[in-house]
Amino acid sequence: MMSTINQITVIGSGVMGHGIAQISAMAGYEVVIRDIQQSFLDKAMEKINWSVNKLAEKKKINQTEAEKIISRIHPIVDIQQSLKNSELIIEAVPEDLRLKHKVYQELDKYADKDVIFGSNTSTLPISEISSFTSRPNRFIGLHFFNPPQLMKLVEVIPGDKTDKQITDLVINFVSKIGKIPILCKKDVPGFIVNRIFIPLVHEAMYSLDRSKSSLVEVDSASKYKMALPMGIFELADYTGLDVIHKATNEMYSRDKKVVFPHPKIQELFENKELGQKTGKGFYLYQGDNYERIQLTEELAEKFDPISLVSVAVNNASWLLSNEVCDKNELEQALMLGMGLKRELFETAEIFGINNIIDTLQYLSSKFGTFYEPDKYLLSMKK
Ligand code: 3HC
Repeated sequence: MMSTINQITVIGSGVMGHGIAQISAMAGYEVVIRDIQQSFLDKAMEKINWSVNKLAEKKKINQTEAEKIISRIHPIVDIQQSLKNSELIIEAVPEDLRLKHKVYQELDKYADKDVIFGSNTSTLPISEISSFTSRPNRFIGLHFFNPPQLMKLVEVIPGDKTDKQITDLVINFVSKIGKIPILCKKDVPGFIVNRIFIPLVHEAMYSLDRSKSSLVEVDSASKYKMALPMGIFELADYTGLDVIHKATNEMYSRDKKVVFPHPKIQELFENKELGQKTGKGFYLYQGDNYERIQLTEELAEKFDPISLVSVAVNNASWLLSNEVCDKNELEQALMLGMGLKRELFETAEIFGINNIIDTLQYLSSKFGTFYEPDKYLLSMKK
């Protein structure tokens, strides 16, 4: 049994894959990044160059370091070659169970016997993916947040057969790459952060319908009243409507209580209006580069985000009732994984616990069980 991890292969070079490869290289690891086409890898290396230059510009790293980081990343198309001597494989391919099945069969065939499989899946069940390999005891969920270069959180999710030693090794690896690991104790749909984030996007759409407010008003209120670093629609565009749509379907198919899907998300997905990367989502963008929406405190005054706060707090309460994590871990995860600038339960106190419970009871009487307040939240009633 190995005691440390030295060499890493990242499978998939998209938004998450390239960022994970970059931060691993920044921590001194030799990293292979693998994708099915050279052109995908070229694009990934372009993005890594942009990000490393940005960090150098901001004096987070110096020019010599920047060059060394790039030189530690090896783009390879050939799967067998990409796995040579690899001790940890981090898989970040699109969120499709059939695709993951195919990928893991191949990885299982060529990887060393002592390799650790870490899946960056955002919502698929870890135990089920682990069964696609012949060694589910060496399989674990390793969920990074976008952009991996800046977001400090990694959720670590053991499956039902994961060896304790593997969990410990992976937690140690996460710390070594400068991230903060939070153990998600149960393999539940959405793990910790997506259980809050994904339903919030849908609720923002419903509240837009109900209130007749504008996108920028809802977004400004999410930023200035809920302490999110971006507006909720801005964040959805930034994350990608394809990612949100797939995560929604997956979570909803496993648990109807976790999310109340709004048809607009599916519509944007089907129209290929995927957000920043396609130039259009909820908003229009000039290109596929990092771009922000102008939000203001004045606009925030025009919208009351009580239903958004209520849905977030209710799903957070579900995590606590079900012992997926404790309250400190939850607040830490939201600050590090979604950039929340204030604890969620502090926001809940500002809006009023009783007000939140009343809002949920009203919404559940009109729209059904998704809104029923969780028992943890009810126990906080004043
Ligand atoms: N590498 C390096 N630098 C980057 C970067 C990257 N990948 N991306 C952005 N930057 C730079 C920007 O260019 C900007 O530089 P500038 O000052 O020269 O313009 C700088 O970082 C800071 O950006 P901003 O001024 O726009 O502002 P913020 O202070 O708001 O920070 C942020 C940006 C860290 C992205 C912050 O807005 C944030 O935390 N947003 C929330 C992100 C989030 O919630 N992510 C999780 C989504 S859910 C998920 O990933 C799970 C999945 O399973 C769905």
